[in-house]
Amino acid sequence: MLALITGTALQAVFPKPTSSAFRNTPYGAPSGPILKVPIGGNRVYCLNRHGLEGQTAAHLVNYRANIWALKELGITRVIATATVGGINPSLDRGDLVVPDQVIDYTYGREQTFVGMRKINHFDFTFPFDTDLRDTLIRSLPAQFQSEQHMVGTYGVTQGPRFETAAEIDRFRQDGCDLVGMTLMPEAALAREAEIRYAALCLVVNPAAGVEEGEVDIEDTATVTKRAIQGLGGMLERVVELIQ
Ligand code: HPA
Repeated sequence: MLALITGTALQAVFPKPTSSAFRNTPYGAPSGPILKVPIGGNRVYCLNRHGLEGQTAAHLVNYRANIWALKELGITRVIATATVGGINPSLDRGDLVVPDQVIDYTYGREQTFVGMRKINHFDFTFPFDTDLRDTLIRSLPAQFQSEQHMVGTYGVTQGPRFETAAEIDRFRQDGCDLVGMTLMPEAALAREAEIRYAALCLVVNPAAGVEEGEVDIEDTATVTKRAIQGLGGMLERVVELIQ
C-alpha cells in the first residue's frame, strides 16, 4: 500500500480527501491526519510532514511518529516529495530530481526506533528504493529525462535558516547536488520500518552563493506555486504505475 509524504504546497494540487484518520503513536502525535486522496483512479494515503497548515518546521517534525503511523496503517511504500535548493549549477528553478544518495548534516533529531539496549544496525548503502526510483524516473516529464535529474546527492540541513555560501561550497565539495531540510531522518526511519522509500525533489532556488547575491526567499514561493501545477499529473502517473 502506497503513501505520499508531502510538503505543504503539494496539498493544493490534490483533489479533496475522501477520509482522514489521526493516529497517535508510542512516539507521540504525527504531523497531522493521514488523508485518503483520490489520485487518478486510485485512493492514496497522504501525510503532510509539516501538518495541515504547514505549521511544523522541518527540524520540529516528529519523523518517528509519522513513519510509525504509516506503518501501523499497513503502508509498504512511500514516495516523499521535497523542495530543495540546487547546488549543481546545471539545475534550474522548477527542475525535478530523483535523488539516489543522501548526506545527513542534521543534528538533534530523533533518528531511530532502535532502543538503547539493543544494537541493531541496518544497511543504508543505497538510501532509496531502486524500484520506486525507477518508477519516478520513468514518470519524469520529457524535459527532465537527463542525467542531472535522474541521480543526485541530497544534503540534509537542519534549518530553518538557509545555508551560508561557505556551507554550500563545502556541501558541493562533499558531492551534494541538492540541499533541503527534510529527507533525514525520514528515509532512515522508513528503512528501519521496512517501508520502501524514494523521493522526488523540486528545485525552488539556486542554493546560497550559487548565483550572485542572496537567496530570494519570496521567489522560492512563486517558483513552488508555479511548478507544483505540473506535479499533480506526474504523481498521478507514478501512483498508476505503483498500484
Ligand atoms: N536550503 C535548504 N533547504 C531548502 C532550500 C535551500 O536552499 N530550498 C528549499 N529548501
